[in-house]
Parts: sequence; structure tokens; C-alpha cells
Amino acid sequence: MAGSAPVPNTAVTLTIDGVERTASVEPRDLLVLALREKFGATAPHVGCESGRCGACTVLLDGTPVKSCMMLAVQVNGSEVTTAAGLGPHRIGSALQAAFKAAHGLQCGYCTPGMLASASGLLAKNPNPNEDEVRQALRGNLCRCTGYQHILDAVLLAAENLREAEPA
Ligand code: FES
Ligand code: FES
Repeated sequence: MAGSAPVPNTAVTLTIDGVERTASVEPRDLLVLALREKFGATAPHVGCESGRCGACTVLLDGTPVKSCMMLAVQVNGSEVTTAAGLGPHRIGSALQAAFKAAHGLQCGYCTPGMLASASGLLAKNPNPNEDEVRQALRGNLCRCTGYQHILDAVLLAAENLREAEPA
């Protein structure tokens, strides 16, 4: 039986954590796998690969997305910020400090996705209440913390940011 012809790879260009990069990806490559395996951006973790756990969350043009739910070729030309690229930014750096201060992580597997989702929230809403934080993180599962420390960390980061730059 004749096999189907191989589908050629495609060049995809992304700005990842501020650096424009191009790699050759297969048309079927999930964004999270392309980020990790083709671009060497290993901050987003692979969990369920079905949109349920949030470990793979990154910011795509500033909006949190689950990078296992899209193909790399679909986002050609986009800006991707992973947890590794959040540090130099005001919100990302405040979140990192608050997660440390409020014990918002244990094994850390969920943390890159949590940071990306929380960063997207605080960029839109600098003064979230606890319900709004829960809502923003509802797609991010954590097997370790019981969530309260994560909620506390995001609220602490928001408070620290407001104190640093009052409205
Ligand atoms: S790996 Fe993407 S949501 Fe779980
Ligand atoms: S800190 Fe371990 S899964 Fe969240």
C-alpha cells in the first residue's frame, strides 16, 4: 500500500522572550512542543496536552494561552512570553518575588503556567479581588499547594505593584 507523501516542514518565526527566532517545524507540531524542542524555550511545561492542566500556559501577544491547544504554524509572527521571559518585566518580577515570599510553589511544575496566567491578569486588572484571581487561574492545576498560597502570592504581587506605582 502506498504511504502518503510526507508533509514538508515549515519555517516559523516567533519573538520568544524578546528575541526573534526562526525554526523549522512540522505542520502538526503543538506550540508547546515546538517551543521546547525546536526553539529551546523550556519554561512552559508539558502536562496533559489537552488543555486541562495549564502547565503549558504562555503569553501570546500578551494574552495567556494554553500552548498545547494550538499549532506552532498557527502563530507564526507572534510574540510569545514564557515564564523565563517574565523576570525583566515589572509584573513578572513582582510575581516571582511574591511567589517566593508567600510560598506559592512547591514542586514548581505548575509555576510557569501560573505565572503566565497571573501576569496576564495583572496586566489587565491591577487590583483584582480573590475571586478574580481564582477565575484567572481556574485553568491552571496544582497538585501540591492547595492553591491558597498561590492566590496569596498573586494578591501580594498586585498589592506590591500598586504600592510601587500608585494610580
Ligand atoms: S499541557 Fe497544556 S493544558 Fe495541560
Ligand atoms: S507546585 Fe507542584 S504542581 Fe503546583
